[in-house]
Amino acid sequence: MTENSKEVELNKSGSTPEHEYDAGLRVANLDAVADPGLEPHRVRMTDKSVKHEKAAVRQVALLFTLSMLGSAFALWAYFTFPLSEDLSSVRLNTMYLGIGMTLGLMGIGIGAVHWAKTLMPDNEVSEERHLTRGTDEKRAAAIEILAAANQESGFTRRKLIRRTLYGSLALFPLPGIILFADLGPNPGDSLRHTFWKKGTRLAKDPTGIEIKASDVTLGSVFQVIPAGLNPENKEYLEEKAKAAVLLVRVDPSELNETEERKGWSYQGIVAYSKICTHVGCPVALYEQHTHHLLCPCHQSTFDLVNGCKVVFGPAARPLPQLPITVDSEGYLIAQSDFLEPVGPSFWDRSVKS
Ligand code: FES
Repeated sequence: MTENSKEVELNKSGSTPEHEYDAGLRVANLDAVADPGLEPHRVRMTDKSVKHEKAAVRQVALLFTLSMLGSAFALWAYFTFPLSEDLSSVRLNTMYLGIGMTLGLMGIGIGAVHWAKTLMPDNEVSEERHLTRGTDEKRAAAIEILAAANQESGFTRRKLIRRTLYGSLALFPLPGIILFADLGPNPGDSLRHTFWKKGTRLAKDPTGIEIKASDVTLGSVFQVIPAGLNPENKEYLEEKAKAAVLLVRVDPSELNETEERKGWSYQGIVAYSKICTHVGCPVALYEQHTHHLLCPCHQSTFDLVNGCKVVFGPAARPLPQLPITVDSEGYLIAQSDFLEPVGPSFWDRSVKS
């Protein structure tokens, strides 16, 4: 111990120090809060009265029955108030389904708590920590405790509670399961196709004016949709979102087309999907000097003259190219649909259906 070391010692009575020292930073807690211990057991009415005990059993069973009724109500409401175009059907469907599922879950929850509070033993027990695997004696003792708990809770003996609990637990998940029916119809191969098909003219977005090759001057950019998309059509916005295209004219000598794609452009005019292959934002910026197309969302950058390959950013694939040509009147037309799904990640781009 050094000269400056500090030590505080109290004599057994805790009042007069044997030695006087500077206490320094040490804090001697002479007034610790006493351990309050466990509260004494409070005898409940159900502990001393058979009449109250039976009443509690009926109350618990009633709550589990309420849960069953709630779940059955949710099932009934789901089929009675189907979702439709009418917004009021959404309100009725969600409201009644919600009420039923709430009762279904609440009945089980409150019933279980009421069962534990009124009928199961409520004396508190403390236990020392022990190894994860107890000795064989302890394991045998645990089994005895479980058997005693079963006996005391009356889980085996109280058939009414047990059966209504089974019933409520069996019915409660059903409303949740039938909600899967609302996931909608199978999309089939609709995600693989757009409105473009052989001979569809390219039109300006949003005017719908069809575009001649002679309208597209060097360096100009057009936002394009397929001619014939009808705004009155229910699917209009969906089809437009999938089919949106950027049309750009560059000097044909600057285009580096692969063998496979030779003939997909017309005199330096190329058409690429406008939907970013990262997470689907519209690629809307064209840098004329570098021939880069930029997505404003996360800065993915596509090289227009090199098959729209990704040169920067998080996009993982080039933008899909729309093969184009001109018809007899000089209007730009599609040679076919896109030959791969447009937009962000897709589970399989290699197979065309
Ligand atoms: S959506 Fe285009 S970069 Fe993220």
